[in-house]
Amino acid sequence: MEGVIDAHCRDLLTREAGFDWTVTEFVRVVDARLPPRVFYKHCPELLHKNCPELLHKNRSGLLHKNRSGLLNPPATPSGIPVHLQLLGSDPDALAANAHQALRLGAISLDLNFGCPAKLVNRHDGGASMLRDPERLYRAVDAVQSAVGDHIPVTAKIRLGFSDRRLALACAQAAEAGGAAQLVVHARTRNEGYRPPAHWEWIGRIRTRLSIPVVANGDIWSLEDYWKARTLSGCRDVMLGRGALADPWLAPRIRHWQLTGHRLPPTSWPQRASLLSAYAAMQRNTLPDKVVVSLLKQWLNHMRARNPEAAQRFQALRRITDLDTFLDGLNQPTPSAIAVGQS
Ligand SMILES: Cc1cc2nc3c(=O)[nH]c(=O)nc-3n(C[C@H](O)[C@H](O)[C@H](O)COP(=O)(O)O)c2cc1C
Repeated sequence: MEGVIDAHCRDLLTREAGFDWTVTEFVRVVDARLPPRVFYKHCPELLHKNCPELLHKNRSGLLHKNRSGLLNPPATPSGIPVHLQLLGSDPDALAANAHQALRLGAISLDLNFGCPAKLVNRHDGGASMLRDPERLYRAVDAVQSAVGDHIPVTAKIRLGFSDRRLALACAQAAEAGGAAQLVVHARTRNEGYRPPAHWEWIGRIRTRLSIPVVANGDIWSLEDYWKARTLSGCRDVMLGRGALADPWLAPRIRHWQLTGHRLPPTSWPQRASLLSAYAAMQRNTLPDKVVVSLLKQWLNHMRARNPEAAQRFQALRRITDLDTFLDGLNQPTPSAIAVGQS
């Protein structure tokens, strides 16, 4: 998720079993081949390819052996593969950047046709491609042809731009272009992030495609996961904001899948220690004030679904000093936080 889920966040979210794979923030492709530093910034996992111990647990079925026969994708330190995501509309530029990504060590690519941002859409990227399935086909086809059959190219779509009339046509275009898997965010671009997510529409798409379809949108809890699976018929789901709101949501789902039992709710100390670990990683390279903003952003994602996070957010929202902020996070009760301007 752009501006939110970076490599540190991916690292923390995948420390406990739950995720099968993760995706980078999108690399925006306009017309030129981007320099390596752009790819490394979005996917530092390319630089220090982790030796994945957990790959045998991967169920996505997307990982192929590369030409040298080694299965060594960029991965989080826990070994969960990281797919590099490109966002663009120009087939040649996408193909050139797909090549570049491969040269730098990517062994799978994801194409974003779901981004609703006005600026991105005005320049013909993200969800604006959903207005023209033929263009979407050309983009996927160009990337798949450029990288070869041994590299899985996946795609992410919404149900349409302003309405759902082209939902199936777009999904079929992605498949015809060579996508190995399709993630469907069950809303149109104009619906933004407003509930509800129309999971039943994903089911309509899934039954007409032969590639795996992954359900996405508004999965905040185990109950949502069950509903999304039932209505879409999809085996797999993708978590977005739900994984930030409850960083143990993926392990919660996995635990239920394996045992049929529920994990207890995520406690405040678990949340505080995760946020503190995130701060410790970020402060190595970023100014303290920026780290505070990142912490507030994550706490903001938690607070809609967790009253303790809401209380902390309220108590800490004016604090700009990192150590004071961390102190506040780690106080046993929100009322113990000495609220002060720094
Ligand atoms: C702040 C923000 C940034 C996002 N950035 C990306 C992105 O870079 N690539 C992408 O495929 N989806 C991105 N998304 C969309 C999410 O991956 C997801 O499809 C969407 O939020 C719906 O799922 P959710 O309801 O579980 O969050 C972003 C969403 C948000 C809120």
